[in-house]
Amino acid sequence: MRFPSVPIRVLTFVALILILDCSDGLFKFKNIRCKCYEKSYCEFAKCELKILGRGIVALNMHLHGKQLPFKRFQFQVSTFRRFNGYRPSFYNISVDICDFFKHKKRFPFFNILHDPLRNFSNFNHSCPYNHDIIINRMVLNDQMLNKLPLPNGFYKLLIVIATEGIWRVEIEFFFEVNLGYDR
Ligand SMILES: *[C@@H]1O[C@H](CO)[C@@H](O)[C@H](O)[C@H]1NC(C)=O
Ligand SMILES: *[C@@H]1O[C@H](CO)[C@@H](O)[C@H](O)[C@H]1NC(C)=O
Ligand SMILES: *[C@@H]1O[C@H](CO)[C@@H](O)[C@H](O)[C@H]1NC(C)=O
Repeated sequence: MRFPSVPIRVLTFVALILILDCSDGLFKFKNIRCKCYEKSYCEFAKCELKILGRGIVALNMHLHGKQLPFKRFQFQVSTFRRFNGYRPSFYNISVDICDFFKHKKRFPFFNILHDPLRNFSNFNHSCPYNHDIIINRMVLNDQMLNKLPLPNGFYKLLIVIATEGIWRVEIEFFFEVNLGYDR
């Protein structure tokens, strides 16, 4: 017997909505590490994950600049997936933040990263930055997964940051993607 295909597709769709709708840690932070290379230049006053509720993990970060302003930020953003240890996979891009805020469309991947960050940080305007960089209670949004087609697994996002052409800061975000089904 052959099942009609439409109802099945509808079922899949409903299941998908249900899964995406329950924001019970399908996409969540597992760990974070922040490092400032030179204590005379900057310092992390905060770099932590806080559990807000069941399966909800928020990120708090405070990068204190000792020689403000930060004039330009150059980001090297790379992603790693865990197999035996973390291996480079999917993305490795370089972004000049001043350019980014002028021409967001040119940096689609970074745009995906920045979009959910925007509402939780004071890092949402163009350079220069005459203040510390703060991220407050950022929770990963499951809708980000619609734009980032990551298979289930454990990942690391590494961001290395230079200002005035000198590498200053390194941040490692560890997160898990678990959709409850394979894709
Ligand atoms: C990403 O690219 C940069 C510059 O091309 C390179 O130095 C770096 O090692 C690469 N990182 C990874 C994880 O492949
Ligand atoms: C950011 O906040 C604005 C206004 O509160 C809201 O419309 C928008 O959907 C939020 N964006 C994200 C990515 O959460
Ligand atoms: C930038 O973040 C502040 C709060 O940190 C928010 O009030 C403002 O709407 C944000 N601006 C944009 C362009 O997202």
